[in-house]
Amino acid sequence: MIIKAYLQTPSIMNSGEFISTMDDYDRYPKLPGWKYECFGGVIRATPSMHSIATTLEVTPRTSASPCDLVSPDEIPREDLVCTFIASFKDSVEFFNWTLVQVEEHANKWVNALLDGKRGRMLAISRVAVIGNSVVGAALFRDEDDIPFLDLLYVLPDWQRKGIASAMVAQAVNTLYEARIPVLTSRYDLANTSSRDWHHRFGFKDSPGWLASRHLRAYFRQELHRRTLMGDLDDAERRRLQQEIEHWSNVIISLWGDDV
Ligand SMILES: CC(C)(COP(=O)(O)OP(=O)(O)OC[C@H]1O[C@@H](n2cnc3c(N)ncnc32)[C@H](O)[C@@H]1OP(=O)(O)O)[C@@H](O)C(=O)NCCC(=O)NCCS
Repeated sequence: MIIKAYLQTPSIMNSGEFISTMDDYDRYPKLPGWKYECFGGVIRATPSMHSIATTLEVTPRTSASPCDLVSPDEIPREDLVCTFIASFKDSVEFFNWTLVQVEEHANKWVNALLDGKRGRMLAISRVAVIGNSVVGAALFRDEDDIPFLDLLYVLPDWQRKGIASAMVAQAVNTLYEARIPVLTSRYDLANTSSRDWHHRFGFKDSPGWLASRHLRAYFRQELHRRTLMGDLDDAERRRLQQEIEHWSNVIISLWGDDV
C-alpha cells in the first residue's frame, strides 16, 4: 500500500514525502499536540486540541521593552482586533479556519474581553505600540480572583524581539507590588511558539488527564520511532523512558490508576 504523507504541521508541512509501509509511517516525525490519521492512504495531521493550564509564580522581573507599552484604554478597539487577526490568522489556533471566520472570532473575542463578558479585564493589561501601530497585546482578566492571561499576541514581523516577554514582565511586576502570588494562563499543546514562550517565561504546566495521556502516548511513539531509526543513544533512550514514566506518574496522581 502506498501511503502519502499529507502533513500540515508547521515543521513538516508540505514535505511531499511518500510512505510505503507502516514502518515508514511509524518512522515519520510527529509532534506533541497533533493527531495523525490515515484516510485512504493519506496521513492527515490535525491539532489534538489539548488546552494546557499553566501557572507562574510571581517574582520581580527585569524587562527592557523594544517598544512603548501602554494601557488598552488608550487604543481603539479596532486596532486591537486588527493586530489579533494578523497575529493569529496563520497560527495553529485557527487551523483550517477561513480568514472571514478568524475575523468574526477576533471581533467577538476581543470585544467580549474588553466588555468584561469573560470576567473583569485587569489594569495590568498592556499593548505594545510602535509609532501609531499596535504590534502586540497582553490582555489579562480576573478568573476566580486569580489573574489570568487571556490574550497574548505579537505581529509576526515583530516576534522574537522580546515584546511578549516585556508586556507580561511589566504586568508581573505590578502583581508583585500588589503581593499577588500567581498568574495563570492556558495554551494549546500544538501551539509550539506559545508553549515555548510560556516555558521560557517560567510558567509551570498542569496538564489534565487527557493531555497527560496524549503526552505519554507521544513519548512512547517517539521511543518506538527512534528505535526504528536506529539513532538512539543511551542518554536519549533514558530521557524518553523517563518522560514515559513521568507521564504515567502524572496519570496515576490524577486518576489513581495508570490507565
Ligand atoms: C507566542 C508569542 C506571543 C510570542 O511573542 P514574542 O514577542 O515573539 O515572544 P518573545 O520575543 O518575548 O519570546 C521570548 C522567548 O520565548 C520563546 N519563544 C517565543 N516564540 C518562540 C517560537 N516561535 N519558537 C520557539 N521559542 C519561542 C523563546 O525562548 C524566546 O526567546 P529567544 O527569542 O531569545 O529565543 C507570538 O509567537 C505570537 O503572537 N504567536 C501567535 C499568537 C499566539 O499563538 N499567541 C499565544 C496564544 S496562547
